[in-house]
Amino acid sequence: MGVAHGWWTEAVIYQIYPRSFADSDGDGIGDLPGITARLGHLAELGVDAVWLSPFYPSPQADAGYDVADYRDVDPLFGSLADADALIAEARAKGLKVIVDLVPNHTSSAHRWFRAAVTAAPGSPERARYVFRDGLGPDGATPPNDWQSVFGGPAWTRLVEPDGRPGQWYLHLFDPAQPDLNWDNPEIRAEFLDVLRFWLDRGVDGFRVDVAHGLIKQADLANWEEPQEILSGNEVDKPRPPMWDQDGVHEIYRDWRRVLDSYDGARILVAEAWVEPAERIARYVRPDEMHQAFNFEYLLAAWTAPAQYAVITRSLEATDAVGAPTTWVLSNHDVIRHASRMGLSAKGGRPNGIGIGDPQPDAALGLRRARAATLLMLALPGSAYLYQGEELGLPEHTTLPDESRQDPTWERSGHTQRGRDGCRVPIPWEADAPSYGFGPTDASWLPQPPLWAEYALDRQQGVSGSTYETYRTALRLRREHGLGRGTLGWLSSGDEVLSFRNAGLTVLTNFGAAAVPPPAGELLHSSAPLDADGRVPTDVTVWVRH
Ligand code: NOJ
Repeated sequence: MGVAHGWWTEAVIYQIYPRSFADSDGDGIGDLPGITARLGHLAELGVDAVWLSPFYPSPQADAGYDVADYRDVDPLFGSLADADALIAEARAKGLKVIVDLVPNHTSSAHRWFRAAVTAAPGSPERARYVFRDGLGPDGATPPNDWQSVFGGPAWTRLVEPDGRPGQWYLHLFDPAQPDLNWDNPEIRAEFLDVLRFWLDRGVDGFRVDVAHGLIKQADLANWEEPQEILSGNEVDKPRPPMWDQDGVHEIYRDWRRVLDSYDGARILVAEAWVEPAERIARYVRPDEMHQAFNFEYLLAAWTAPAQYAVITRSLEATDAVGAPTTWVLSNHDVIRHASRMGLSAKGGRPNGIGIGDPQPDAALGLRRARAATLLMLALPGSAYLYQGEELGLPEHTTLPDESRQDPTWERSGHTQRGRDGCRVPIPWEADAPSYGFGPTDASWLPQPPLWAEYALDRQQGVSGSTYETYRTALRLRREHGLGRGTLGWLSSGDEVLSFRNAGLTVLTNFGAAAVPPPAGELLHSSAPLDADGRVPTDVTVWVRH
């Protein structure tokens, strides 16, 4: 099938987590003016676009993924005028801007939910959400057995205006994030309007939160399995009644028509924790979204066979629908890959790491992370980077539990530490207050002392630093057109992976022994070659053949 082409098909898109990127006013929480002032860093790094996690008015029960008003900016982050200024400055620097859209749920502080709580069962106000009577004679049992992704039941019971216990409402995430009822045409019309609001302000696209969750199986059938944020749907298992229902696709076709009515190429990116690759490819059929995050790639083990399999499968699945493949190693929901890749494989996939937990091997993690990044950036398609990974930033793995803010920590009864460790404000200057995050020492999550050694100013111009390794990779990727090339495998053994793409030969050594580099001119490597000019373990090289 012919593959779509546009800026997004080969773009490197950098995720900004506004709370933690740059703080202009010193309150310890990053903001839009802070981002605008630092956009030069991203242009210099060489990315094509930024995706901003939510900055809308919100009680911040889930760090802004609980939106109380989709058409404004939370004073914590600035104002609509600041958003306009950010978009204009990004454009002036040649960067596209993607904003986050959260359609599965609103905040419980949204005017719609506030109205639903005081309205009667069966009212139009309640019909915007998923309200049900409880089970049992007094309705005290939740309508079904669904669990929240953050732990505990996915239902909360209301106290009715007359003071009696009443109906239950569904929240696949926190109780402060009630799920919307997407069978209701009013919801559909509202979100079409929200899309237009931001498109009119000049954004280049939307990252769609929980894109696989909007439609629930009509009977809300019980589902005995636990919910985990990282859970996919394995091929041979029945499809969970709350995820990846066929009805979601009609919604995205409607949205696509709106985007296509605007000039330029505006894009939709699905955040959908769906497996296998063929299921996720359904979200990027020609009349639906443009891209979907490739979480199967993010989760793949660091072995040659696992990487070969996931890369091959990903390319085949998206080729079949004519969409570009995407690649991602880190984001604000997972352990940063510089730490994840230093964990022992036996430990499984922890949701956060704290004091007392097995700690990652930092040197091994960073070495592998750099090799993985160079492998990723050599692949055809579009790649996502998460703020700070260009500094080799590790997870904060010893964050005091009392400073944790992720609702997962409380909701799981302190069994899952959650995602705070990858959300710590990032270091810009080694010797400045809050490592240059803001003008004061304030930081909404404590920064670890070792942040100084990762600061941008310690790495700029330092040959072989992680920052310069990323910058060189992005420059070469652009110069050689790697994002629009075609991958041809040269070797896919147990120890070494190598392929050709756009005139380059790329080799990653996963084995214990060093191997000779491919013939040709060495353009880039994730770490130095050994004294004999061989490629050591956990190193990726790019060679011009
Ligand atoms: C996915 C977001 O990436 C995550 O941070 C959030 O908690 C959930 N969706 C709920 O909106």
